This record gives sequence, structure tokens and C-alpha cells, in this order.
Amino acid sequence: MTKYRKLVVTGHLGFIGSAFCWNYRDSYTLVGVDFAGWGSMKENLAPGVRDVRIDIAEADDVRALLDEVKPDAIVNFAAESHVDRAVDQDLPFWRSNVMGARNLAIEAQQRGLRLVQVSTDEVYGDATEATEAWTERSPMAPRNPYSVTKTAAEMMLLAYENTYGLDVVITRGANTIGPRQFPEKAVPKAVDHFLRGSPFPLFRTPARRMWLYVDDHASGVEAALRKGRKGEAYNIAPGIKSEAYTHEVIAMVKEQVGNGEIEEVDDRKGYDLRYWMSAEKAQKELEWAPEHDLRSTVQHSVNWYLENREWLGKAGAQLREASGEPTVSG
Ligand SMILES: NC(=O)c1ccc[n+]([C@@H]2O[C@H](COP(=O)([O-])OP(=O)(O)OC[C@H]3O[C@@H](n4cnc5c(N)ncnc54)[C@H](O)[C@@H]3O)[C@@H](O)[C@H]2O)c1
Repeated sequence: MTKYRKLVVTGHLGFIGSAFCWNYRDSYTLVGVDFAGWGSMKENLAPGVRDVRIDIAEADDVRALLDEVKPDAIVNFAAESHVDRAVDQDLPFWRSNVMGARNLAIEAQQRGLRLVQVSTDEVYGDATEATEAWTERSPMAPRNPYSVTKTAAEMMLLAYENTYGLDVVITRGANTIGPRQFPEKAVPKAVDHFLRGSPFPLFRTPARRMWLYVDDHASGVEAALRKGRKGEAYNIAPGIKSEAYTHEVIAMVKEQVGNGEIEEVDDRKGYDLRYWMSAEKAQKELEWAPEHDLRSTVQHSVNWYLENREWLGKAGAQLREASGEPTVSG
């Protein structure tokens, strides 16, 4: 049981926010808040979730919404999330990821609400071969314009906790895949390319990720909401056997789709080669554990795209219309 009944969930039309809503729509009253920006799909809306369109970087709109809804807590998934786009233009990332989080924090603090900030393993930077798995005490060392905005948001929120007593809990999720991920990200993009018979552009330098299934990410965030300690961060990562090189995962995708070509392209600027972290604290304190191993994570993800080709076609068209054919991934 939880003392939180009504939640404002930001970013509910995006990938992980929508999974959270699909999975917890019977456990909570959910009010979704999204400005329907890049990466969002109106088709992602979970049944029974109220669909509010506002920009969290607009302080007055955030305040008015919270006055009306009177939630028990806020779960903040909303963010500009794609590293390649941040490399091209980072200003929207500062706006959504930092100013948006600040507006939520100020309102949460004044109303005595819990704020769950959904952050990322990318705040730790790049792990080498010799690096011990990151814990929540490892230094933050972001290396690209996306991860620096996520780190800035975390530090701001922790400073608000220290200064004003904000009830904030932070989750640092690993590289996540699953249904409803916009096809600018590696796995849906590979399925989309393979189905359309165009080569998938893979960065030349092999990079490793810990591949987390989206439902496991969502359950980690939900556990942090209920059981997280104020002012603490929790790594949400799959087991160590879920670490794999991107090219290995793309090969699994190709096998499942049945055909496909891969073309090597230059790495993105500032490319991180490894994120390597331990979720021991979440397992102990939140009693959270991932349910999917690497194979089932990839299989469930690819199956969903194969069974939802209309969604993938729409998302692919939306992406191409907004940006022209993207060239990179990872
Ligand atoms: N995808 C991953 O692998 C991963 C891993 C760890 C953490 N995260 C974090 O999880 C969260 C969700 O990521 P995602 O992959 O679902 O991203 P996404 O891009 O699919 O979804 C983000 C959603 O936020 C909305 N949004 C952005 N700025 C907004 C604003 N100013 N006001 C209102 N809505 C806004 C977008 O319209 C979109 O629907 C992000 O905070 C991201 O940093 C993602």
C-alpha cells in the first residue's frame, strides 16, 4: 500500500513515462502532463489517464495545474532525451530538463509533495575497463550536453532538499528499451531500418550498455516513489549479464526481424563507451529487482514493434518529417 493516490506524471506521452502509466493506471489516479514535443506520440496515451498538454518550463502553467489537480506526488519523466539532438542544439535541454525540473521542485516544496526525478546513468560519465560498477556515491562526471543537463537538475534538486527540505527522490536508470520508444533510439530504429530494407547506421567504436527493460525501469521508479528515502538517489540497472555491446544487441534484433544490413558510421561527438553501475542499493532499500534478462528484454522489445507496425510506421514518418532521415544511433 502507498500513501500516494493521485500522481502528476510528466512526460506521459514519451517512452518510459507512458510505460509507467500503462503499468500503474489501476494503482493510482494518474494525470499526465506533456507538451507533446519531440519523441512523444499521442498513441502512447494509456487508457484512463488524464491527458494535459503543458510545458513544464512555464512556471505559471505548472502552478495552475497543481492548484487544480492537487496531487499527492509528482513523477518527472519529462525531458529532452536524445543525446544526438543535444549535440546539435542543447538549449531546449536546459529548458525542459533543468528549468522544467526547477518549476516542479518549487511547487512540490511549497505544497509538501514528493517529487521523483527520473535521471540517468549518464550522469556518471564514461566507465573504463577497470572501473568498479558505479554506486550512488560515485562522482558525477557527465560528458555530453544531454547528461550535463540531467546532472545539473539532480544537483539543483539535492541542493533544494538540503536548503528548503524538498522531498525529492532520484532514480538513475540504465539504457532502456521496450515498447513505444521513438525510432531515433537504437532498437526501434534498427527494427524500422531492417523492415524498410535500409542499412542501420551503427557507430564505429564498440560501446557497451546495460540493457534495461522499460517495465523494470518503471517498477524501479514506482518503488522509489513508495520506499525511497528523501534526498537519496537509486541506480536502476539490470543484472551484470545484461551488459552487451550495441552491435551484439543489433545482431539479436536482426536475427529476430529476419534480415537487415548494418553500416558503420562515425561516432557521435563525445561518445560514451560504457555505463556500468550497480543497483544493489535499490535492491536492498526499495526491494526492487528487474524481471527481465538480456534475451527477454530484446525479444519483448522487438516483438512489440513487429506486432505494432502501424505505430512504428507513424513514429518513423513523424521522425523523418521533423528531422530528415537521421544518420546516427546508439
Ligand atoms: N531512454 C532511456 O534509456 C533513459 C535511461 C535513463 C533515464 N532516462 C530518463 O527517463 C526520462 C524519460 O525518457 P524517455 O526515453 O521516455 O524520453 P522520451 O523523449 O521518449 O519522452 C520524454 C517526454 O517528455 C516530454 N517533454 C519534454 N520536455 C517537456 C516539457 N518541457 N514539458 C512537458 N513535456 C515535456 C516529451 O514531449 C516526451 O513525451 C527522461 O528524463 C530521461 O532522461 C531515459
